[in-house]
Amino acid sequence: MDPTPLVGRNAELDVLTGLLGAAAAGQSVVALVSGDGGIGKTRLAAELAATARERGFTVLPGRCAELVGAIPYLPLADALRSAAAGPSAGELAEAVAARPVLTQLLPDRPITPAVTSPPSDDAPGLAPQRLFGAVLGMLTELAAASPVLLILEDMHWADDSARDLVTFLSRVLRRERVAMVVSYRTDDLHRQHPLRPVLAELLRLPSVTPLRLGPLDPAAMAAHLTALSGRPLGVAELGQIIRRAGGNPYYAEELLAAAGDPGTVGQALPASLGELLVSRAERLPEAAQQVVQAAAVTGRHVDDELVMLVSGLAAPEYEKAVRQVVAHQLLVPDGPDGYAFRHALLREAVYADLLPGERTRLHARLASVLSDERMLAEVPGTAAELAHHRLASQDLPGALAASVRAAKEAERQGAPADAHRQYERALSLWNQVAEPERVSGTDRNSLAFLSALRAADGGQAGRAMDRLRELISALGGSDPALLCRASERLAYLLAEGGDGDGALAPAEAAVAALPPDPPRWERARALATQASVLLRQRDLGPARLRAGQAQAAAQAAGALRVEADAMVTLGLISEQSGRPEKAVDLLERAHRQAASRAANAGPQQHQVPAERCDCGACLLGAELRAAFHLARARLDLGDPAGAAGPAHEGTRRARKAGLGLAPYGLDLQGLHYLVHYADGAWDHAEQIAGDFAVRATSAGEARLSAVALSVEVARGRTAQVADRIRWLEPFFAADRSAECTARGQLAEHALWQGDHQTAMTQAEAAIRAAQAREQGYGLLTVRPAAVALGALADGAVAGGAVAGGAHQQAPTAADSLLEIARKGAARQRPRDSGAGAPGPGWLARAEAEWLRAVGRNDPAAWQAVVEAFGASSPYETARSRWRLAEALAQAGQHESARREWRLAAQTAGDLGAVPLVAALDDLGRRARLAPALQRSRQSAEQSRGPLARLTTRELEVLQLLAAGRGNKDIGATLFISAKTASLHVSNIMAKLGAASRIEAAAIAHQQGIAAEPRP
Ligand SMILES: Nc1ncnc2c1ncn2[C@@H]1O[C@H](COP(=O)(O)OP(=O)(O)O)[C@@H](O)[C@H]1O
Ligand SMILES: [Mg+2]
Repeated sequence: MDPTPLVGRNAELDVLTGLLGAAAAGQSVVALVSGDGGIGKTRLAAELAATARERGFTVLPGRCAELVGAIPYLPLADALRSAAAGPSAGELAEAVAARPVLTQLLPDRPITPAVTSPPSDDAPGLAPQRLFGAVLGMLTELAAASPVLLILEDMHWADDSARDLVTFLSRVLRRERVAMVVSYRTDDLHRQHPLRPVLAELLRLPSVTPLRLGPLDPAAMAAHLTALSGRPLGVAELGQIIRRAGGNPYYAEELLAAAGDPGTVGQALPASLGELLVSRAERLPEAAQQVVQAAAVTGRHVDDELVMLVSGLAAPEYEKAVRQVVAHQLLVPDGPDGYAFRHALLREAVYADLLPGERTRLHARLASVLSDERMLAEVPGTAAELAHHRLASQDLPGALAASVRAAKEAERQGAPADAHRQYERALSLWNQVAEPERVSGTDRNSLAFLSALRAADGGQAGRAMDRLRELISALGGSDPALLCRASERLAYLLAEGGDGDGALAPAEAAVAALPPDPPRWERARALATQASVLLRQRDLGPARLRAGQAQAAAQAAGALRVEADAMVTLGLISEQSGRPEKAVDLLERAHRQAASRAANAGPQQHQVPAERCDCGACLLGAELRAAFHLARARLDLGDPAGAAGPAHEGTRRARKAGLGLAPYGLDLQGLHYLVHYADGAWDHAEQIAGDFAVRATSAGEARLSAVALSVEVARGRTAQVADRIRWLEPFFAADRSAECTARGQLAEHALWQGDHQTAMTQAEAAIRAAQAREQGYGLLTVRPAAVALGALADGAVAGGAVAGGAHQQAPTAADSLLEIARKGAARQRPRDSGAGAPGPGWLARAEAEWLRAVGRNDPAAWQAVVEAFGASSPYETARSRWRLAEALAQAGQHESARREWRLAAQTAGDLGAVPLVAALDDLGRRARLAPALQRSRQSAEQSRGPLARLTTRELEVLQLLAAGRGNKDIGATLFISAKTASLHVSNIMAKLGAASRIEAAAIAHQQGIAAEPRP
């Protein structure tokens, strides 16, 4: 059908084309287009696609289908397929071919195990991350050539995997030239609809624009109907249709068709759109109706051959019937060998109108057509569709078998949530089928186990644990090996979720399930997991025992990865028991062994079961874990140079294998950054952070992004800090360590800007987050507590409390903060504390800040901070020297102050630590530590106007005076006595001819020098 001109929707189209402009200019955008069925979402998207093509965009138009979860990532696959015929086909094909995980989504390529990546039990969410990474890479590559418009329509039908993908892309796309249009039907969105929470989350993102399509206005409807009918319509007729259609163009089209149909002339029009649509189909000849019904059962887009087989018509008869259907505009040609319903609502109406018997019969016929080995093997999603149709035709055994098959397929495609759903369906059918073992080719307990694993992979840990508990109690003593595995997984998930105590019992049960002999990998793995669970206990004896046993058992069973894991755990145990050198030694050995095994491993082909898999990819996982802990331990030992090697190499290896976003890949990237933050190679650190998503899409990425604030804050990159925080905030509630890191940095940022109130608020929130994370005051609390004390001290100094020696209020707050820092530092290291756990430097700083806050700023205390941080932390050392210089100046030791000041200024300048440089500048001026530098700058200012006669010192006094400070306070700030300050004030007033302090302050304001200097 030739489309009639677009009516109305000018405003909406303007918004959307505006978004195209933004995307083309390098700002990724997302539009959420919503509205009732038939209101015009698809039409608007098509219009936008045409505009985009004219502007040179690569357009990827994808749609979801009604059959939820049949094909994971269906809208994406659809977009790739549709675009493969478009103008950018060449580039697209290249971009896809370079990423094997994408090619397997496309039906014309058989799913070959060699390129697929079944999820690994140890790395939840790893497979989807790989796919997401590939999609992102592909879009980035395409967008580099020309801007991209990705359309994902009808997301109300999307499965979990596609929803996750949309969230991921919306968050992660940033400066890529990509516009994404996502549409969904509002009338289908019931309260429990799984799209709702996703939408709520998306709408919080600054890059997302919602666009709700309301009814068309009557004038637009009239224009549309007139254009459609091709004849002038009577006013009464037009008015009636417009009234009834309520602004829905599709409804109007159907009403018009019905009104013009000779078969209905003179009859009353049906009441609802549904009835109207059904009556349209009913007026077709019998054979044509059969075709429409067969198509309605098959889906929105239907394959010609498939519909013929399902309709039961012979070829010539079918040909004729399908021609009639197309002539009546119920189906329209779609693609080279298929049709689509003119509108999804039409399919739904026809389907809803089928009698139960007819429906069952058609589903059964469809199922028998789909039970074709070649199709099942080659066309993704066939097994899931088959399961659906078999279930709908009450073929329960068939549905069971197909569900299991579909679950395996979803696993291979990296869609664990879909796999979980298929397993659950199989389980729900289990008891309704005779001989389910024979039918499914497996046993119920194995299915339940897999279902639980996939739930965990898909991010539903709670659900996974419920399933595991059920399974464990169902198992009794019947299958010790499975009992061992299920208990081990339960312990692992509990520990992962922070319930270390809850994990103890299942960890022990896992080990107890199997005898030590003969050696088995299951038991080795259980021992290894128990060791890492026990690592959280105060007494490390049991952990060491288990880790040693795990290593020996794994060796005996030939389970390489488990062995590597156990060795790393042994290293961690040494570290925790206060023997860091021994720990580094063990971790070095573990790393060396894992790396050589990974290098010698065969192709990255997973074996089943995945927990014992020793393929290249899994051994690489072990290598990365070892690399991470080795680098971290060296960094904590004050050896950033030694940490840089494994961090750098690990990051490279992870990236190369596409594991940059997988758990240890992510951690290594963060660590690599922190190593160079610590050693002062900040340009390199920022280069590394350039690869961290500002738009965090997962807790892991949020932690990474929070870490990347370190240099940005230290270099005073205010805009970048704000940008990161905007995207980080949504993760604060879900990830306390990201919150703690980010808020701690925000506090420091606020301190640099002289806003000690904000600094205090943020530091306190960081402490609360750390407390929640560590269940009490632990190592994470030390740094924010020190920063909070710094804020308190700054506040006291600014308020003049220190100068007067009056600190009635400050001590209580300061005391409790110091107490928190001390408690935190005394607690032993948590097993999984990431890198950058504060060393003794931060506790020393807390002590020194406390003294400063109570008015006893002490050079010795700051000297201790400088020493505690040591030469391996150039930035922290310089920052501490700044305070040391200040304290020395206050104590009248100007020579020493000048020496420390110079050292700090040298380092700060080298690092490009702008706020610290400014602070040193200010201190240098106030305390006259760098007079030459300052005079030259200020002499230019004072050469004009009424201030021309003031000396540098007088100018400084005037600035403080204008800020409302008293003489005592001015004296303390400038390291002079109150009396000297008052002398300066008198001189200033005389030189300015001011009769009072107020007048002098007014002149300062008028001359624009009244900006408050740093406290
Ligand atoms: N603004 C419009 N101008 C002209 N025709 C429209 C307009 N909006 C929708 N239509 C027509 O109405 C019908 C239903 O629109 P469609 O985009 O398929 O709805 P939706 O995708 O929201 O269900 C289609 O035939 C479409 O061409
Ligand atoms: Mg539509």
